[in-house]
Amino acid sequence: MSLPGVDLTLAARYRAEFPIFEHATYLNSCSLGALSRRSRARVNEHLDLWERRGASAWYDTWWGALAELRAAYGRVVGAPAGAVALHPHISSALAAVSESLDYGRRPKVVVTSLDFPTIAYQWLAKVPSGVQVELLQSPDGIGVPLEMYERAVDDRTALVATSHVFFTSGAIQDAAAIARIAHRRGALCLIDGYQAAGQVPVNVQALDVDFYASGGLKWLLGGTGVAFLYARPELVPSLHPRVAGWFAHREQFRFDPSALELHDDARRLETGTPALMSVYAQLGGLEIIEEAGVDAIRRETMALAEDLIEGARARGLSPKVAPAAADRSAIVMLPSAEPHAVVKRLAEARIITDARPGHVRVSPYFYNTPDDHRALLEFLAP
Ligand SMILES: Cc1ncc(COP(=O)(O)O)c(C=O)c1O
Repeated sequence: MSLPGVDLTLAARYRAEFPIFEHATYLNSCSLGALSRRSRARVNEHLDLWERRGASAWYDTWWGALAELRAAYGRVVGAPAGAVALHPHISSALAAVSESLDYGRRPKVVVTSLDFPTIAYQWLAKVPSGVQVELLQSPDGIGVPLEMYERAVDDRTALVATSHVFFTSGAIQDAAAIARIAHRRGALCLIDGYQAAGQVPVNVQALDVDFYASGGLKWLLGGTGVAFLYARPELVPSLHPRVAGWFAHREQFRFDPSALELHDDARRLETGTPALMSVYAQLGGLEIIEEAGVDAIRRETMALAEDLIEGARARGLSPKVAPAAADRSAIVMLPSAEPHAVVKRLAEARIITDARPGHVRVSPYFYNTPDDHRALLEFLAP
């Protein structure tokens, strides 16, 4: 299978790993990545251990699975060892950061109207205690010009918190440039990469961001309940979060309630016991992501996104996407007057997409093919 200039080798290799394609056209990875046979096998492995060995599996097996997951997440975003903390979801990762900052001299946090709102909520919840949230309004619903960050970030800014890929436009932000703008004024930069890691190459060290959060739900194929927070190693020792738990303690099995001695590494930003079922599902998904390679995934999903955009335009639809192909990810917004009804009708025809205000949101991944697009477009604009 190929598209102009790009051989689609990954769909041929991996589609059979995802049983949903036996009965559906799945085009909704940006809501929930498809379940792989490998994730199911790894979850079964966990269940078998739980059944056979109960808690005795903690010390020689499950503890190691947590370390394996921190390391695998680290590899996917180019983080050095010890720079990744596990969390159950992005909101919890954001809380660890927001509760580590000092808002005394720098009360301001800059976010944007296109970020997933859980970012803004994290700091809006702190407005009563003096935090000021500056919400940058996207002029076009697609992106946020860098000049807006330049104007907003000042000596009173503690943090810029925004997305790597916007969840309703698919536009890729220049995270490195945003980090530079923040750092020039002495502020920190947090990037929510939930819509990026997996589908676009990420190197947190090259981006020079201070925090990067992502997780299993979408493009990393791990399902619900498992996420992570990268924290820049040089910054970590200075972080003293006002939320804590025994996983942050450097000797958690001392069970000593008299003193909180934090890990030296990013685990100081963890709190409690991770959900092992989710951890195992994620390990299965990450095995595929690493095997396929994020560069190859990007090459093929970029070609698929362009195919979808061109096909939609050819049928008179006007996808809302970033103007330049290089700034687009595999999230394609197709305008619709009644997106929920259309998404429901599509689902009845076993074509799985999602609804967002004014749009049907379509997100092909490396397991999709141009035929999936034809099936969708034929339905939307016969
Ligand atoms: C960019 C982004 N961030 C965060 C979330 C969700 O946050 P949480 O993991 O806290 O539910 C989503 C969607 O589920 C998202 O698209």
